[in-house]
Amino acid sequence: MTHIVLFENIHPSAREVFAAAGLKDVVAHASALPPESLREAMKGAQLIGIRSRTHLDAALLGDLPDLRGIGCFCIGTNQVDLDAAMMRGLPVFNAPFSNTRSVAEMVLGQTILLLRRIPEKNDRVHHGFWDKTAEGSFETRGKTLGIIGYGNIGSQVGTLAEAAGMRVVFYDVEAKLPLGNARACSSLNQLLAQSDVVTLHVPGGKGTKDIMDATTIAAMKKGSILINASRGTVVVIDALHDALQSGHLSGAAIDVFPTEPKSREEPLKSPLIGMRNVVLTPHIGGSTQESQENIGREVAEKLVRFIQSGTTKSAVNFPEIPYQERTGTHRILHVHRNLPGALGTLSSLVAEFGLNIVSQQLQTKGQVGYVISDVDGPVNDKVMAALRAHPITIRCDLL
Ligand code: NAI
Repeated sequence: MTHIVLFENIHPSAREVFAAAGLKDVVAHASALPPESLREAMKGAQLIGIRSRTHLDAALLGDLPDLRGIGCFCIGTNQVDLDAAMMRGLPVFNAPFSNTRSVAEMVLGQTILLLRRIPEKNDRVHHGFWDKTAEGSFETRGKTLGIIGYGNIGSQVGTLAEAAGMRVVFYDVEAKLPLGNARACSSLNQLLAQSDVVTLHVPGGKGTKDIMDATTIAAMKKGSILINASRGTVVVIDALHDALQSGHLSGAAIDVFPTEPKSREEPLKSPLIGMRNVVLTPHIGGSTQESQENIGREVAEKLVRFIQSGTTKSAVNFPEIPYQERTGTHRILHVHRNLPGALGTLSSLVAEFGLNIVSQQLQTKGQVGYVISDVDGPVNDKVMAALRAHPITIRCDLL
């Protein structure tokens, strides 16, 4: 019986997936637990599910011998010591794409509202002014949307924007297949020169730091709009502030900031606060009920596939073996130190017990190798004890 413990109010969709797979021994905690009770609550669990507030360090992982896999029911995984988990043979899964649609919809909404100067008009009416004018207000139809970073989110933004009648161009450092009628630009400047709205969907890190600085913002069309719901490091906020103040840009929507408040009580500090036709949101591009439900389902499905077939596809810290139909009478999951001859050692150990290997898949990542072996013959405790006792073995499980 697989014992599953969930923390931090994970969406009920996860329990539905576990139940459908026959995994009914699930204990769910509504919040994160303090370290003393966390250790106790995790005892005996084969699978645990956490979100961003539960920290799993090497010492804690070392105290959980029954644990087989970890689900981060969120996007980020830096609350888990990923290397320590890998060295204990524990794959970690997350849900990197569950909120793609939520971000894309927000960006389309912001595009439409900013082109009409709705944020500014809304604010004026709330303050008692009735500025009824068409000046500076434009339809979305026929405008050009420039997407920087045409990955999961960028390409969905493009599809939605085309449905609203926009012309879509994109710039990506990798060759990407355009969806719909989108067209690739060969340089960032080519995109900036023709876009009425520019939206960023690149990853963080050195390669994208300050992509939009004073020079690139100056290369945008006069009166155009900048949207950033990717990472706070990609836009130089002072340069954006200056461009908005001078009227070079007519609006902006910023969901991510170079430094973000750490709690609900801490206010955001930014020169953009109070600027006209500027939408500021607290990093909520991906935060919807639907994305929470998708995350619950996506991570639970990955854990179920792993526990039932050994599949580690899309694990963030582990050799990835895709799903393969089971053959043979038993399936042995063997995690070992990635040393020359490891596969041969495993195969001869299995052969010594008179077992026939029907099929075998090996993948390695850094210091760890992972083999799924389907075998015919009686796999008893003696076989498993011998496999577990071998010095190359990190962990070994039988399905
Ligand atoms: P992705 O990895 O699918 O796509 C990123 C794309 O950017 C790739 O096609 C890549 O080739 C391209 N790229 C990388 N460097 C580039 C450069 N210098 N110039 C142009 N293109 C470049 O990522 P995904 O899932 O679409 O996410 C995009 C961003 O959105 C990430 O930074 C992610 O952290 C952020 N995000 C923000 C959320 C929010 O709540 N605001 C929620 C979810 C994701």
